[in-house]
Amino acid sequence: MTQYKLKIYVYIFFVLAMVGCNQEPNSTPPVAAEGIDAKVDSLLSIMTLDEKVGQMNLYNGFWEVTGPAPQGGNAAEKYEHLRKGWVGAMLSVRGVENVKAVQKIAVEETRLGIPLIIGFDVIHGYKTLSPIPLAESASWDLEAIRKSASVAASEAAAAGISWTFAPMVDISRDARWGRVMEGGGEDPYLGSLIAAARVKGFQGDDLAATNTIAATAKHFAAYGFSESGRDYNTVDVGTSTLHNIALPPFKAAADAGVKSFMNAFNELNGIPSTGNTYLQRDILKGDWGFEGFVVSDWASMAEMVMHGHAKDSTHAAERSAIAGSDMDMESYVYVKHLVKLVQDGKVDEALVDDAVRRILKVKYELGLFDDPYRYCDEEREKQVTGAKEHHDAVLDMAKKSIVLLKNEGDLLPLKKEGMKIAVIGALAEDKTSPLGSWRIASDDETAVSVMEGLSAYTGNKVTYSKGPEFTKGSPHFIQEVEVNETDRSGLKKAVRAARGKDVVVMVLGEHGFQSGEARSRTEIGLPGLQQELLEAVYKVNKNIVLVLMNGRPLTINWADANVPTILEAWQLGTQSGNAIAQVLYGDYNPSGKLPMTFPKSVGQIPIYYNHKNTGRPTNSQNNVFWSHYIDESNDPLYVFGHGLSYTKFDYSNLQLSANSFAAGGSVEVSCTLTNSGQYTGKEVVQLYIRDLAGSVTRPVKELKGFKMVELKPGESKQVTFTIDEKTIQFYTANNRWEAETGDFKVFVGGSSRTSLEGSFSFE
Ligand code: NOJ
Repeated sequence: MTQYKLKIYVYIFFVLAMVGCNQEPNSTPPVAAEGIDAKVDSLLSIMTLDEKVGQMNLYNGFWEVTGPAPQGGNAAEKYEHLRKGWVGAMLSVRGVENVKAVQKIAVEETRLGIPLIIGFDVIHGYKTLSPIPLAESASWDLEAIRKSASVAASEAAAAGISWTFAPMVDISRDARWGRVMEGGGEDPYLGSLIAAARVKGFQGDDLAATNTIAATAKHFAAYGFSESGRDYNTVDVGTSTLHNIALPPFKAAADAGVKSFMNAFNELNGIPSTGNTYLQRDILKGDWGFEGFVVSDWASMAEMVMHGHAKDSTHAAERSAIAGSDMDMESYVYVKHLVKLVQDGKVDEALVDDAVRRILKVKYELGLFDDPYRYCDEEREKQVTGAKEHHDAVLDMAKKSIVLLKNEGDLLPLKKEGMKIAVIGALAEDKTSPLGSWRIASDDETAVSVMEGLSAYTGNKVTYSKGPEFTKGSPHFIQEVEVNETDRSGLKKAVRAARGKDVVVMVLGEHGFQSGEARSRTEIGLPGLQQELLEAVYKVNKNIVLVLMNGRPLTINWADANVPTILEAWQLGTQSGNAIAQVLYGDYNPSGKLPMTFPKSVGQIPIYYNHKNTGRPTNSQNNVFWSHYIDESNDPLYVFGHGLSYTKFDYSNLQLSANSFAAGGSVEVSCTLTNSGQYTGKEVVQLYIRDLAGSVTRPVKELKGFKMVELKPGESKQVTFTIDEKTIQFYTANNRWEAETGDFKVFVGGSSRTSLEGSFSFE
């Protein structure tokens, strides 16, 4: 160590000691926010402009490329920058050994020794994978979702990671968009609760604990509204949709204390999110008082040139910094241009200071200044990764995520003995697809397949036939999936296997890499030869249980019209096959409800339950001039909130405690739920309202509450909800959240197609 460096260390040590920083590693109680602020300011005061800009630079670590690597991104240069202190964080470096290696450079070789934050796409697990987020959302079980995120955090933290790029809280109404698999579905109320649950799961109560990591609410904002469902495409949404639909889950994440936000690839109403001052400075850091930092999406700063919002990369850096993007992920525009932009007076250094303050604060909160290697313990990594309790938790989550879409003739649950069963479909033995497309730290072939799950039940005779190959070659994260459309070999054999069996379990759907980033589809039926296979089998045996594996709603109209039983099993992660088998055999009674509408045809998209009424909602005049299609009904295939159980639930006796309430008051809405079937089961009782006249028109229904109720056969329970001023607030024509007086309808039921209806007014 040079004399100079030694001096700097002594100086920093002195400055930090003055504000009470130098505690023993791992023994530090969480530091009060004011304490951290003082430490951040002290550190900031000794940083050069180069070092400040360095903190705003996030480099991919070359272990996984999750996007096109922009020009100039070579490893040698990156390591040189790391040594100079020009890197504040790295992504996709994983495993204690690798993380330690880069952290050591930051801590020991840079002038100030500021530790790196290590980011990773821990989307639904690290090694042990939970269901994809859309599937988890179908559980409507906030505690299970929180737990699932905490399992993911603890495995990731044990592998050296301190920051995840999750949760994705983008609302979407478009099943063509491949990234619907990564979110909470179409509803802002459910989406907000799920966003908060995931943030709490990742971050826990103590960010510095060695089993928690900082979370990221992404993609700010309205990325789920990309035109025609095509990824990275333009977004144009009006004020009401932005504030009432797209933003609430982000606000919920901010309120839950999320430490960072990621902006988005899309432009929003003409201005790319990355360069959007209104979103990042006015709303997020202004109105919402967000104190964490904003990271760009991969190369989204540089892409503002392609968008036509910045004339070159220098201009992109200028616009990004001014708009409040604090950290540059893989655009290289801050590291290259920001120092000069400040020196030339184009970007105020106060903006740089603000960004760096935010980043350093999170580093303090993560405990990285106490011990930069606190997430780097090889022993812990070995013990925690793939721990039994993680498998138990993801299995529990997987069972809760399954949705029974249809069960005519009660083919399910299967009897445990004496049956002849055929299992058909390539996905039935696929050990990779159930892991979904966001599984970069997990290993291929590690999911329990349906066949493996079924093998735990030995009382029946099970025959497997694959049918035609589903895909050609081995699909990969950075390549398109090539689906087999022509090679029918295997079809006849599958049909033979189905003949004469008591039940045929057909496992069909999408490959794991047919949804996710850059995986938009224009047709969302069963891909490849699977529809043909289904119809061929149906000709010889109608007792089909269709198990769907998919990352988005599918248009499975033929199946719905013909196949008696359909089970939505999404991509359920590592324990997929066990969860599916336990549900098929009735050891778990399905309780999931759809978080997203299933359309009947792509032409209906965007389709969502909380739509507006229009001026011509019905065919009241018996003529053609009303809001409809001439070749398809307006109704979806499966409505939002739909999901059956092996038992039957009846709703009755809706009661309101009052007909009206005023500010400060409330009205209680209750109903009786009865289990009139033969199995113990759980039901998600859903409350919706409709505001009949608003300064901005209101949806025909809005989810405002739900409760999970478990009942034994024959049992009844009263379920009660409270409606108050907050319940009816929305972003009005006054451009603020407030309640407007007027008349409301209230609905309660087991889906958005509710059975009970009442009314009240707010005076
Ligand atoms: C691009 C994706 O949009 C974002 O969600 C992800 O976190 C980054 N790549 C990093 O992998």
